[in-house]
Amino acid sequence: MNIVLFGPPGAGKGTQSALLVERKQMKQISTGDLLREAVKNQTPLGLQAKSIMDAGKLVSDEIMIGIVQEVLKGLKGQNFILDGFPRTVPQAEALEVALEDFGLKIGKALFLEVPRQDLHRRLTGRRVCQSCGATYHVDTKPTKQEGICDVCGGAVVQRKDDHESVIGTRLEAYDKSTAPVKDYFSKKGALAEISGVGSAEEVYGRLTAQMA
Ligand code: AP5
Repeated sequence: MNIVLFGPPGAGKGTQSALLVERKQMKQISTGDLLREAVKNQTPLGLQAKSIMDAGKLVSDEIMIGIVQEVLKGLKGQNFILDGFPRTVPQAEALEVALEDFGLKIGKALFLEVPRQDLHRRLTGRRVCQSCGATYHVDTKPTKQEGICDVCGGAVVQRKDDHESVIGTRLEAYDKSTAPVKDYFSKKGALAEISGVGSAEEVYGRLTAQMA
């Protein structure tokens, strides 16, 4: 089954996607990761997106739709997870058209629900590996050696948009633009709401139960 995994910043989309990739061999399509890669490689897209992302705002629908269309076009029959897309109603509408064009279907849109105070804790404490992208948390999932990735030995840092001063803007963008996407999928009969509270394993259990 192909799924959309969405929810507020820090809800655990990346964490759950990593488990689905590892255990169900699904392909993760994370628009956040695609943009961060473009920033790292200083491509024209990356140069355009960097300041927007660092400020916690959303990159334009036009750019995001173009990126996802390209990825969907290149899929080779593997089940996929859309992580972080669609993030606005226009993106959801464009996705519907693209899926039809490429003969693809979304089985479920899974929404991860997490209370605000938990989101705040998760985001401010998150650390990521600059080389392989592995995700940690200073309290709940620390690295064995401070600042060094357990997986690849790369440098583990805080994302610019995880700084206290930016989190408010990200949550505002979520409330204004992404929360309405829930109604969109609900009207299509594709929405399943899942509590993202509890351990990553507990959340994974709830999530995969919806995919059965
Ligand atoms: P993106 O990278 O998609 O950021 P996001 O949606 O804000 O999501 P996050 O990556 O912050 O969180 P997550 O839900 O993946 O949580 P995670 O699993 O890491 O996008 C970044 C930016 O790119 C956007 O702000 C925007 O500018 C741009 N962008 C991307 N897509 C776009 C689009 N479609 N349109 C326009 N602009 C776009 O977990 C967070 C922390 O919590 C970690 O430390 C983790 O260890 C911990 N954690 C996870 N699960 C649990 C648990 N169950 N219990 C306790 N802790 C947990």
